[in-house]
Amino acid sequence: TGHVTLDVGFVNTAACESAITYIDGDAGILRYRGYPIEQLAEKSTFIEVSYLLIYGELPTARQLSEFSGRLRIHTLVHEEMRRFFDGFPRDAHPMAVLSSGVSALSTFYQDSLDPFDDDHVEASTVRLLAKVPTIAAYAYKKSIGMPPMYPDNSLDYVENFLRMTFGMPTTPYEVDPEIARVLDLLFILHADHEQNCSTSTVRMVGSSHANLFASVSAGVNALFGPLHGGANSAVLRMLSGIRADGGDIPAFVRRVKDKADGVRLMGFGHRVYKNYDPRAALVKEAARRVIDRMERPDPLLDLAMQLEEIALADDYFIERRLYPNVDFYTGLIYKAMGFPTPMFTVLFALGRLPGWIAQWREMIADPATKIGRPRQIYTGATSRDYLPVDRR
Ligand code: CMC
Repeated sequence: TGHVTLDVGFVNTAACESAITYIDGDAGILRYRGYPIEQLAEKSTFIEVSYLLIYGELPTARQLSEFSGRLRIHTLVHEEMRRFFDGFPRDAHPMAVLSSGVSALSTFYQDSLDPFDDDHVEASTVRLLAKVPTIAAYAYKKSIGMPPMYPDNSLDYVENFLRMTFGMPTTPYEVDPEIARVLDLLFILHADHEQNCSTSTVRMVGSSHANLFASVSAGVNALFGPLHGGANSAVLRMLSGIRADGGDIPAFVRRVKDKADGVRLMGFGHRVYKNYDPRAALVKEAARRVIDRMERPDPLLDLAMQLEEIALADDYFIERRLYPNVDFYTGLIYKAMGFPTPMFTVLFALGRLPGWIAQWREMIADPATKIGRPRQIYTGATSRDYLPVDRR
């Protein structure tokens, strides 16, 4: 074992080799399997990108239709599982419901005792991709006291999710193709981001040979936090708060810079991107597109744009190289689409799912993989003798 180096937050420590996602944080470059995110955002679809991340290559037409066909026939969740949703309190956070649901999937699909069995891994991959949107939509319906909608397998992936979320059993539901296209784009932008907190969690849990469902549900929980996937909801709460306080942006920025009450500018800063987040530029453009189509544009969009401008001109943010990240504008889009704030992080999870699966599969296929087991620098008491309770 020898010398142990302290690296809090793994700022300089690589935990694996990976061929999936490339990030150059200084140049603002993001590529999946070598393809620039800008090209995938413009030309690809979320299902194609999922295939690319998981299997390493863009699918041929036949591979793509076979893959989406397999996803379509697995969208239903076990009927027994619907009873889970009855047990949660009405105001249960949908991320907590989602992680419980994903965890519960492993109780229904115990088809192999070997979590690394090829057929089992393949089946679990398809089941997760197909069923997580259904579970997410159920979680939402539950939170608004509405009956769940069964999937409609004549629809494509994102359309089906939108219908299960916003459709009603009583009325036919028309999916707006522009909304579906933008949500598909946002899923592409979230699909992988190399060894971020939730992905590292998925790998860490999987490194003990826990199955894919167990590993991914741990990833959902890691994503829950406001410094990670929870940031998209936190941005919206922040913007609404500024507006409610009279819209004084400079006063808010001063509060952040003071650091007195621990307020951060949510949606700003990134561990790896130090110039700009290439996803943020694509999201900002999409936000304009969606919000401009609304009858009454959201005043929070203007507020966000002013806040961005003021922060980018401020020395505090310049010195620390803090720029808008992917989540600065996503919440505004989700809001315009009709999602309530707690659902935003669930949408992040839907997007990140293929990345988690791809990274887990890469990990188990890598002969160099070992159980994740960081070391520590001990700072506690040195050796001392036990005292019976009457002598303490
Ligand atoms: N607002 C104000 N100050 C900040 C912010 C922010 N958003 N982010 C970093 N700083 C300051 C921080 O206080 C520190 O200052 P100092 O050197 O004076 O102590 C300096 O910048 C470096 O920050 P750090 O906390 O060491 O940076 P990190 O790499 O550990 O944190 C981060 C990265 C993303 C957690 C952080 O920037 C943050 O909390 N941002 C807000 C939350 C957010 O938007 N998260 C979403 C990230 S992108 C999508 C995702 O991963 O889910």
